[in-house]
Amino acid sequence: MDTLTALHTRVSFPRLSEPAPNEDQLEAIFQAALRAPDHAMLRPWRFLTIAGEQRNQLGQLLVAAAKQANPQITDAEQNKLLQAPLRAPLLVAVICSPKFHAKVPELEQLLSTAAAVQNMLLAAYALGVGAMWRTGLISYHEHVQQGLGLSNTEKLLGFIYMGQPVGQPKSIMPLDTKDYFQPWQG
Ligand SMILES: Cc1cc2nc3c(=O)[nH]c(=O)nc-3n(C[C@H](O)[C@H](O)[C@H](O)COP(=O)(O)O)c2cc1C
Repeated sequence: MDTLTALHTRVSFPRLSEPAPNEDQLEAIFQAALRAPDHAMLRPWRFLTIAGEQRNQLGQLLVAAAKQANPQITDAEQNKLLQAPLRAPLLVAVICSPKFHAKVPELEQLLSTAAAVQNMLLAAYALGVGAMWRTGLISYHEHVQQGLGLSNTEKLLGFIYMGQPVGQPKSIMPLDTKDYFQPWQG
């Protein structure tokens, strides 16, 4: 797939099944992340792959955090969180790991990490791997961040779910560039 086709047609795949991307596909996807724009080449990111039994552990972590946030959480809500990581064979946790630099504020490092995610989504799409960036409010809870081993300065930016796409890609709503791009009037 050529670059512009990937850029113009990429979609997320909410329904994913086995198998997880193979080793070559993953290497290509991860290399794409590492080509994100990165002021001062700080590499302000790290990623954790979560597969197999670790997905159940992540589900338990989400439930424990949700119970802290809301002790009245229902069984159904707990079960939904428990099952959430099982929606794909592989998850990649995205962590912004900012480095101190006098000229590169933390915001730019967050933006670099987000660009790394977009590169991964595009690479996955070009390879026929289904992917979707998901967070869920509970992923911002400190218990989740601690459970995944983040330091106080790191931020979890969500999870990229990856697997074999199930079903057809959704149709894309055409947008008019003129609605979003205008000449500056000075
Ligand atoms: C930071 C971030 C977090 C997201 N979290 C979720 C989420 O938790 N659940 C969800 O359904 N979509 C989430 N999305 C949106 C999907 O990843 C996706 O972009 C959206 O459904 C539009 O689909 P498309 O990528 O095919 O245009 C998130 C997007 C971003 C940028």
